[in-house]
Amino acid sequence: MTEDTETDDGTNRAPATAEATPRIGVCYFPEHWPRERWETDVEQMVEAGIDVVRMGEFSWGRLEPERGEFDFEWLDTAVSLLSDAGIDVVLCTPTATPPKWLIDEHPEILQVEPDGTTREFGSRRHYCFNSEVYREETERIARTMAERYADVDAVVGWQTDNEYGCHETVRCYCEDCASGFREWCRDRYGDVETLNETWGTAFWSQQVGSFEELDPPRHTAAEHHPSRLLDYARFANASVVDYNELQAEIIREANDEWFVTHNFMGHFDTLDSFSVGDSLDFATWDSYPTGFAQDRNTEDATADRLRAGDPDQVSLNHDLYRGPNGFWVMEQQPGDVNWPPRCPQPGEGAMRLWAHQAVAHGANVVSYFRWRRCREGQEQYHAGLRKHDGSPDRGYEDATRAAAEFGALGDLDAVDAPVALCFSYDDLWALDEQPHAPEFDYWGLVGAFYRALRARGIQVDVVDVSPGTEPSFDGYAAVVAPTVHLADESLADAFEGYVDDGGHLLLGPRTGYKLPGNKLQSTLAPGPFADLVGGRVDQHESLPGSIETRLTYRGEGYDFWTWAEWLTPEDGTAVGEYASGVASGRSAVLENEVGAGSVTYCGVWPEADLADALVVDLLDRGGVSHGERFPETVRVAERDGYVWLLNFGGEPVTVDAPDDAEWRVGSESLPAFGVGVVEADVASLSVR
Ligand code: GAL
Ligand code: ZN
Repeated sequence: MTEDTETDDGTNRAPATAEATPRIGVCYFPEHWPRERWETDVEQMVEAGIDVVRMGEFSWGRLEPERGEFDFEWLDTAVSLLSDAGIDVVLCTPTATPPKWLIDEHPEILQVEPDGTTREFGSRRHYCFNSEVYREETERIARTMAERYADVDAVVGWQTDNEYGCHETVRCYCEDCASGFREWCRDRYGDVETLNETWGTAFWSQQVGSFEELDPPRHTAAEHHPSRLLDYARFANASVVDYNELQAEIIREANDEWFVTHNFMGHFDTLDSFSVGDSLDFATWDSYPTGFAQDRNTEDATADRLRAGDPDQVSLNHDLYRGPNGFWVMEQQPGDVNWPPRCPQPGEGAMRLWAHQAVAHGANVVSYFRWRRCREGQEQYHAGLRKHDGSPDRGYEDATRAAAEFGALGDLDAVDAPVALCFSYDDLWALDEQPHAPEFDYWGLVGAFYRALRARGIQVDVVDVSPGTEPSFDGYAAVVAPTVHLADESLADAFEGYVDDGGHLLLGPRTGYKLPGNKLQSTLAPGPFADLVGGRVDQHESLPGSIETRLTYRGEGYDFWTWAEWLTPEDGTAVGEYASGVASGRSAVLENEVGAGSVTYCGVWPEADLADALVVDLLDRGGVSHGERFPETVRVAERDGYVWLLNFGGEPVTVDAPDDAEWRVGSESLPAFGVGVVEADVASLSVR
């Protein structure tokens, strides 16, 4: 890791490292406000301790009102006001919103839905990633902007575009995408025989005679072939990866000291952030906890979650996006927002709580969206740090407090996680196509295991295990794979090497069912992992709430839900058995000693108590010390010797800590939605 360097103007310029003094930022749209106000805005940012400002992501229409007629003066002025105040600027390419004149010139830029409907101008994200014209236009605007700011010190880096894929826009079904898909399949398979074999196209007369026959999976009477769908998901993802590379190259050509990042979304399905991340210096993401608790959570939006979000849902994204150079929250919910079904005011202090949680999980910048509630356009019902009359809103006070607290904590090292959590977007896509139960959701299943780890205060790294990756589990005391649905021998080898050397692996249901092409393995599940697991899956069933779902694990009774596999032990030992239904007496959980380590296979979607028991046994085997099981609304997270206690509940709690524990923020009395930071061992803390 590199050292942070102080620059002449005193700002901290080492944005692309894992270690840093965490900073507060804000997303600013000077173009929405009279110029006379900008100086005041900047003064108030300085008062709040804001160090970073992001701008420009939707500004194409202002920067180039007519083809070739550029107006940069307003942005130059905003950048120099911020620069004079010592604030770092992150600029964005404005490509999420091509202006009307461009669409009128080239309507073929527009995206098309599976039923042939064009996504028209009038909102945002209305371009196709595979449009050659749009790629040329992207190069033109990105290069013009990048070259203009190449020598401006205050501009420290770039965000490409904005939230690729938001509003379901990764997958487009236009003619450009059709020809792109044909090319992509040709590159991947070489000849149609290989494609036919990999997909398995004898079913329903799906044989492909030539690559020219391939179309996007457009509107049909019944479901599409799952292998074709999966490859379309991969192709669409690859189109975004390419498009992002194009942008990143142009930015780096102008100034290779800039960092390049992108703002991903929370619990987002259609974009593989690992693959897009290959051309970024680090990832950032946009965190809206009270919205996510409602619109993308398999669990209930309880009153507490409506006020502060589900802590584990939020931090799973922090951990997913955290890489060797850390991560940022590029957009942090500033108060009430406009897009979830309901928009209660967040709990008192929640905006500060979220910033602390992000930093505890490795964030180096937490940047609120947006500076001021906007008086025009689609997001008038979305708060900012300031109200639309300019006065401070609730988030402003929280952001100010967080900025001061982070400054006092100083430099923080990277998060050091003892456990790896396996994740694969390919599995997410395959399981999304064939969930086999309405409630079977990849995020929910991953979340069930993740929640159990977090409830014990365990930091985790998220590791990509999608087909073709060569994951390394070196240095992890334990590995949890909630499912590895599509699997090949190379992943089985990686797991085997890890366990042989003394690693401890916990595998969840639906593992090893399919080949990477999305057809069943020729052997029973868990396919290539059967030897490791020491047994096989004899049957599976998906179960509604009206059927009792009970099992015993090491003699204790537990609930599970929605998914059950009847397991046949071979070398492995049954440590869990069904205690209800037609599976009664059959094996549900297997354990196998392999080499110097162990493998546990859990054939159900575990309820919280079972997930906790499985995880605690795994941690004990791996020699990972852990805390007590914290209540659902209290989370602890460790970074660089500091432990954050984060109260996501509406009631105060008291922390029991050793007498010599030093409180750096707050104290043992944690108010509702409050935060404490203490120097102590996680295992020595408990709450009342
Ligand atoms: C994000 C987006 C922002 C804004 C925000 C509202 O998804 O990047 O531009 O729309 O949501 O919460
Ligand atoms: Zn398209």
